[in-house]
Amino acid sequence: MTEHQPPAGTGAAAHAVPEDAAGEDAAAGAVDWARLRAAAVAAREHAYVPYSRFPVGAAALTEDGRVVSGCNVENASYGLTLCAECALVSALHMSGGGRLAAFVCVDARGDVLMPCGRCRQLLYEHRAPGLRLLTVSGVRTMAEVLPDAFGPEHL
Ligand code: THU
Repeated sequence: MTEHQPPAGTGAAAHAVPEDAAGEDAAAGAVDWARLRAAAVAAREHAYVPYSRFPVGAAALTEDGRVVSGCNVENASYGLTLCAECALVSALHMSGGGRLAAFVCVDARGDVLMPCGRCRQLLYEHRAPGLRLLTVSGVRTMAEVLPDAFGPEHL
């Protein structure tokens, strides 16, 4: 099992992420949000949204400085829609793994969009310590957008 695989059973400890600690993380104070937002806008251009007509682009900075992104991809079976964050997490693993240090997603107008509940869970799983999210209410921590989260540490 590599460090990039999900924890199985009691392996959760290997996946433990320290609690948010402002000032200790790679992202604190150093995130080029404009660049990240531009990457989200660029990703959004690839959205496949024939059903909702609601394109979403997501982009994140990894702990080691890569930018990963994704767009939403819908399906005739509406419930099978893949949010932009799903593609982003896949891109994270496809490009070498690691964890997310900063995140933003945008809508068709380029406005910041809150990640849906399911995707907050996805982001939680793949967060770096101190992950920062650019939200409609400013830069937030993971704990602020998903308090008392359930995670691999509870398995
Ligand atoms: N969507 C995302 O891609 N991410 C979110 O966090 C919110 C919702 C997509 C799913 C669907 O294709 C469209 O937005 C409308 O819900």
